[in-house]
Amino acid sequence: MSATPYVSVPHSLDAPVPMTLPRLAEKKRLGEPIVMVTAYDYPSAQVAQEAGVDVVLVGDSGAMTVLGYPTTVPVSTDEMLMLASAVRRGCRTPLLVGDLPFGSYEASDEQAVATAQRFVKEAGCDAVKLERGGSTVQRAKAIVEAGIPVMGHVGLTPQTATALGGYRAQGRTADRALSVARDALALQEAGCFSIVFEAIPAAVSELVMEQIEIPVIGIGAGAATDGQVLVFHDLLGIYDGHAPRFAKRYGELKALMVAGVAEYAAEVRGRAFPGPEHCYSIDEDELTELREALAAG
Ligand code: KIV
Repeated sequence: MSATPYVSVPHSLDAPVPMTLPRLAEKKRLGEPIVMVTAYDYPSAQVAQEAGVDVVLVGDSGAMTVLGYPTTVPVSTDEMLMLASAVRRGCRTPLLVGDLPFGSYEASDEQAVATAQRFVKEAGCDAVKLERGGSTVQRAKAIVEAGIPVMGHVGLTPQTATALGGYRAQGRTADRALSVARDALALQEAGCFSIVFEAIPAAVSELVMEQIEIPVIGIGAGAATDGQVLVFHDLLGIYDGHAPRFAKRYGELKALMVAGVAEYAAEVRGRAFPGPEHCYSIDEDELTELREALAAG
């Protein structure tokens, strides 16, 4: 196998420098856009690593894109930890953020800290992300106080999409936008190192950004945020479920994958594969000896 696992990758002097929280904050200060992408397994992590992104999020969107659930709600902590561990093995320099799944942090500070610790200890994540303002703010504070960096997430929060009226843009009235702004400010106050703004009007992001000192990563939140995040499978056209308007496609990989597997199937059925170049040889004398031994029983 030609792939090199995470643990044995040598750190050469000219290797890219690992992303840290101070470097992220510096990027914001310098106005350098921050690039974040989701990843859910070893190959997608390697792609993110080689493409040179700043932050990799093991998003609970993996519930839908790789595990086939209809929403992000059913995914368990153990399932997320398995995805995050695989990503860790393929990803060396980007900051690695693990998404705490629905039901794994809301009940109490103790539950939130225990789950966050599993993402750090068992999966090797550098930080965790959780959704919403409200009671989540206290959970974020507890995790930060336990020494684990936290990324917040406001606007459209898919784990509680039902309560928000479905998968739709948030903050489209002054009242609702104010509530998004208050959530973001409260998460900043709680000690979050960064916040995701999802599906809010660009003009609202722009106004709220004026009050936020930590890096804001947008998805469907316009161009004023400090960085952007896209879901790996949306970006590359691997997932063919519903794609929101903000999911710009930079590839159509699913079509390529289907074409590749279909061609393989056709070659197997047509006896065109395997060819001689895919087969191992054996010395003619050895073959004669084998033939005689088999014939002799
Ligand atoms: O789960 C996810 O992929 C996310 C991003 C959309 C920010 O939360």
